[in-house]
Amino acid sequence: MDNTLFTLEQEITLEQENPQPEKTNFQLEKTSSQPEKANWKQEKATPNQIKKEDTNALKKDYLNLLRSTKRQGIESVISWLEKTDFFTAPASTMFHGNYPGGLLEHSMNVAHIAVKIKEMLDNILSGRKDSDCDDYLAKQIINNRDRLSSISRESVLIVSLLHDICKANIYTKEKRNKKINGKWEEVDVYGVDYSQLPLGHGEKSVILLLRLGLELTDDELLAIRWHMSAWDLAFQSAEAKGNINAAKDKCLLLSVLQAADQLSTAVLEVKNLN
Ligand SMILES: [Fe+2]
Repeated sequence: MDNTLFTLEQEITLEQENPQPEKTNFQLEKTSSQPEKANWKQEKATPNQIKKEDTNALKKDYLNLLRSTKRQGIESVISWLEKTDFFTAPASTMFHGNYPGGLLEHSMNVAHIAVKIKEMLDNILSGRKDSDCDDYLAKQIINNRDRLSSISRESVLIVSLLHDICKANIYTKEKRNKKINGKWEEVDVYGVDYSQLPLGHGEKSVILLLRLGLELTDDELLAIRWHMSAWDLAFQSAEAKGNINAAKDKCLLLSVLQAADQLSTAVLEVKNLN
């Protein structure tokens, strides 16, 4: 078991419980480095919306985790991320994490869940008792030892933290009329503009990372490319279906990433109901 995975965990404050009253009027403060954010407000923020100072702490942890992989090309990726809106962007326009910092929060949530899955597998396969795993599941895991023992800490972090970098620089800020307490009011919402680099989703993340010089293993390429599962099939082509099935059969890392991504979006991240 790798005990160094989340030594910074105590510093990470996602505050999923006990909604804090000061979060109900979330607003990004104007800073010299982010003048374009000056007029961006969101009313009625959900408890999961993260404050600017929390975003800064989360970003620090995110970068530390990325650097902990010591992967060839990671500094180039970080330099690129810093030039984009990755750290302040939402995770979606109207689904999970649709608030400033949502994409960063989502990436960290996925990493935490995926690492937990890896730790459980490592514990069982190395003969340690894992309190999260009952005897039946432990036996099933051991029976499939050959397919389960190949995930590295670095791979889990690389694919979790970087699978959605395709979402950097695609979100726009728009206005929409909404009836609030019987009165029409103009509210801020997110839109999307794919025109900068319309390359798709998982494949776009892979292409960006390779172009930035990041070394990726075959499993990492497959996991990032197909993390959306059938939602990312190109017009239902037979070749795409064949590829996604083959990738699932040979790549445990893909299943771990998909599970962590789904749990994160469905359970940990709520949406702002604008
Ligand atoms: Fe994701």
